[in-house]
Amino acid sequence: MRGVGLNSKRMTTAIQNLVVYGLTSPLIFKLIDAINRRQPSLKLVGIVLSDGDPANINCYGYPLLGNHSVLRELGAQPDRVFFCNVNRSPREICTADAWLAENGCRTINLIHPDIDMNDVRVGTNVSLADGCLVGPGTVLGNHVTCRMGGIISHEVTIEDRVYLSPGVRICGSAHLKTGCDIGAGVIVLPKVTIGRNAVIGAGAVVTQDVPDNVTAVGVPAKVIRTHDPNDDRFHF
Ligand SMILES: CC(C)(COP(=O)(O)OP(=O)(O)OC[C@H]1O[C@@H](n2cnc3c(N)ncnc32)[C@H](O)[C@@H]1OP(=O)(O)O)[C@@H](O)C(=O)NCCC(=O)NCCS
Repeated sequence: MRGVGLNSKRMTTAIQNLVVYGLTSPLIFKLIDAINRRQPSLKLVGIVLSDGDPANINCYGYPLLGNHSVLRELGAQPDRVFFCNVNRSPREICTADAWLAENGCRTINLIHPDIDMNDVRVGTNVSLADGCLVGPGTVLGNHVTCRMGGIISHEVTIEDRVYLSPGVRICGSAHLKTGCDIGAGVIVLPKVTIGRNAVIGAGAVVTQDVPDNVTAVGVPAKVIRTHDPNDDRFHF
């Protein structure tokens, strides 16, 4: 009989001590709260800064553990897991990743518990916020961030270090290459490929392939500039 006994035993999950590395906004704490409300599993022990002056950083009431110099000590503790919350410039993400790997820090994903991840392949350091939907056959690389309300349809390929702003809609079989930034509310039509490090302005409708290292805006999206892939200023 299907379903019998489903509620007879409460699932128990070990609590993991989580360190957040890098801080750009309080959004990450909302996601951690949502995960814990469904099933208590993460104890946020504090924040490690990837950059900036600790004196000027608002940690939203959570403990500040230091900068990357404390990663070695924290990474050596077997009960620690890390989430790399550096999610904008692909170059900064690579640097943060290298610090974490060098110090033996084990990273996890933060995926809102309402999201059905069946038939989705997912890397590490992926964060998917409240209200996202991810269709079957989709592949998400490492360090993919999808903010609130993002819709990723079926068989979409999203490579490493891609940032999806709130409310994006990515249609079936689209391909987003490494390091691209997709602005709020963007629509990417089926089978379209967005090139490496491309930046797509808020509200754009992307109807055709976009080359590497360009900014495109508008409906339909048009390229407005080409940029040096090492210049972080083009990422938002
Ligand atoms: C596309 C974007 C990155 C360009 O920023 P920028 O390089 O500073 O560009 P500028 O502000 O110099 O604008 C260049 C031109 O593009 C236009 N433009 C900029 N953004 C546009 C957009 N989203 N849609 C249509 N046109 C846009 C500007 O009006 C300007 O036009 P003009 O030359 O005729 O005056 C930025 O405008 C944008 O849309 N960022 C997305 C932000 C976002 O969604 N953040 C979510 C974070 S959670």
